[in-house]
Amino acid sequence: MKVIMLGAPGAGKGTQAKMIAERYGVPHVSTGDMFRANIKNGTALGTEAKKYMDAGELVPDELTVRILLDRVAKDDCKNGYVLDGFPRTIPQAKVLDEALDKIGEQVDYAVDVDVPDENIIKRMSGRRACLSCGATYHIEHVPPKTADVCDQCGSALVLRDDDKPETVKNRLNVYHEQTQPLIAYYTEKGILRTVDGTLPMEEVFNAITAILG
Ligand code: AP5
Repeated sequence: MKVIMLGAPGAGKGTQAKMIAERYGVPHVSTGDMFRANIKNGTALGTEAKKYMDAGELVPDELTVRILLDRVAKDDCKNGYVLDGFPRTIPQAKVLDEALDKIGEQVDYAVDVDVPDENIIKRMSGRRACLSCGATYHIEHVPPKTADVCDQCGSALVLRDDDKPETVKNRLNVYHEQTQPLIAYYTEKGILRTVDGTLPMEEVFNAITAILG
């Protein structure tokens, strides 16, 4: 099963992707998480990516495509994966399609988690992230057991640098300009499915599993 999660920043792609990965036994592949791991480890790729991420801009396609194709070529992706945050541009989508085409495969579904902009800014200011293990919380909807401490690994939780309101506004603009055209791209391919991302997480997940089977 190969599934792409689409949606604005903060729509809940990561939350749902983790649940899908667990339910269907496929890896959750997040380009954002991979970039954050590189930043944390002080790699050259991380230093380069951070400049764009902190400004709410997209990391250039050539860097993003490389990291993604390396990841999905790994053994654990043989039976599929759920992509979270990739593709984000039409050129990225085309590279993925071409790479899959070469091995006689294709994306099964692109799931758009639909949340209006006005809900997003509020959600993002409440998000807390663990930069060690990638877990995500929300101070109202998914609070950790102990404030600001990750339930899973005990590390400190942070407000991501790019979750500050000014940066979120720019990320939304970038989303509408560069990522939203993917909705038409996957509609044309007949694999777009839209779910209402304003519903409680479990209801969003039920809508997704009804699609994926
Ligand atoms: P990335 O990490 O992918 O960020 P994003 O797409 O902006 O998505 P987020 O992780 O912010 O949100 P999400 O939709 O996963 O929501 P979440 O589940 O956490 O990318 C970061 C940056 O990396 C980009 O800006 C770019 O610079 C770069 N990058 C990454 N991929 C790239 C690519 N392919 N090309 C170029 N650059 C790339 O949920 C949000 C909050 O809401 C959480 O607190 C959660 O608990 C809560 N929540 C979730 N669902 C619900 C619900 N149903 N009800 C109430 N609260 C909910």
